[in-house]
Amino acid sequence: MTSQDYIKKEDQYGAHNYHPLPVVLDKGEGIFVWDVEGKKYFDFLSAYSAVNQGHCHPKIVNAMAEQAKTLALTSRAFYNSSLGLYEEYITKYFGYDKVLPMNTGAEGDETALKLCRKWAYEKKGIEENKAKIIVCEGNFHGRTITIISMSTDPDSYKGFGPYTPGFEVVPYNDIPALKKALEDPNVAGFLVEPIQGEAGVYVPDDGYLKKAYDLCKAKNVLFIADEVQTGLARTGKMLACDHEGVRPDILILGKALSGGTYPVSAVLADDEIMLCIKPGEHGSTYGGNPVAAKVAIAALEVLKEEKLAENSEKLGELFRAEMQKLADKYEMVEKVRGKGLLNAIVIKPTKGIKAWDVCLKMKENGLIAKPTHEHIIRFAPPLVINEKQLMEAVGIIKKTIEELN
Ligand SMILES: Cc1ncc(COP(=O)(O)O)c(C=O)c1O
Repeated sequence: MTSQDYIKKEDQYGAHNYHPLPVVLDKGEGIFVWDVEGKKYFDFLSAYSAVNQGHCHPKIVNAMAEQAKTLALTSRAFYNSSLGLYEEYITKYFGYDKVLPMNTGAEGDETALKLCRKWAYEKKGIEENKAKIIVCEGNFHGRTITIISMSTDPDSYKGFGPYTPGFEVVPYNDIPALKKALEDPNVAGFLVEPIQGEAGVYVPDDGYLKKAYDLCKAKNVLFIADEVQTGLARTGKMLACDHEGVRPDILILGKALSGGTYPVSAVLADDEIMLCIKPGEHGSTYGGNPVAAKVAIAALEVLKEEKLAENSEKLGELFRAEMQKLADKYEMVEKVRGKGLLNAIVIKPTKGIKAWDVCLKMKENGLIAKPTHEHIIRFAPPLVINEKQLMEAVGIIKKTIEELN
């Protein structure tokens, strides 16, 4: 079968809820992927930052295969011999009392919202059903009904109402607006992405997270960080909140927690918050299964063993400097922004060229990335990339912009 045959099948038998770049991938290793015709590409999306450790990392794949052969799923009706070890490992790794294991990022966010509301009624003393959670304009936390109820992107929410109440939206990176919203005594939490990834890699001003955290503390409001995309070495620190020394009250992780092998997410918090949820009040059949537990330990070990945060910080600087040179030379590249190896360029809508056209051309030239919104291209290679490879990839991006100019 050819790429066209595979694309036709997805089109005919699959729901049309995505608009993929026309490339059919068949194999991955480290920072590279190959299509069904055998053409090799630099992967500059990393499955939206799930593959931080590189495709098919042998240590993670081995951990998964070994556990899958031994015991894959018990449900939480019983204890299993992997979960407790993982819970100890991840809580010590990030310095929290407890973890609640789930599968997808959206489930992690939903879990955090439930925890926050329960804490509001049991600990903060907010009247039942009155708790409010502040969220940010341009947020992306997933696709469930409750999560799209917080969204300000019509593509996400339009046509799916009625919406879940209890959220207030403030502009991102706007401390006075947050301060004003926090005046309401029914506010229980502030949910924020340390960098808005899906919105187009919007990096807030230095100090924003710390100021927001301090304001929350002053009002006994939980600071909830969605690090599903920014977490796990992507931005040059283990967590993006580490750049400002902020320790979230509730931390949401996903994606790279499995290195792209398996859906694993986690919510971390201390006892005062986590123990508000009692047996029977939350869970998931697959959450905390033995394979997920083993995969997550391996994925977290790889991040430290291979010093991926350090690599991301160093190569991120180099990448932005190279992209800036491109922006200085070509009007088409309007802006460069990002942190670590989570970066984006904004394509100026001149000559009718859109981010999609640039991505198609980059694909021809051997690098795949995906537009986010019409004029933004996110660049997020696996963090195992080295300097030589990065410069080779930069060469492809430069060549593409030159060709389209
Ligand atoms: C910040 C953030 N939160 C949550 C999610 C949702 O994760 P999932 O697609 O695993 O449900 C995403 C996905 O892109 C994300 O970027």
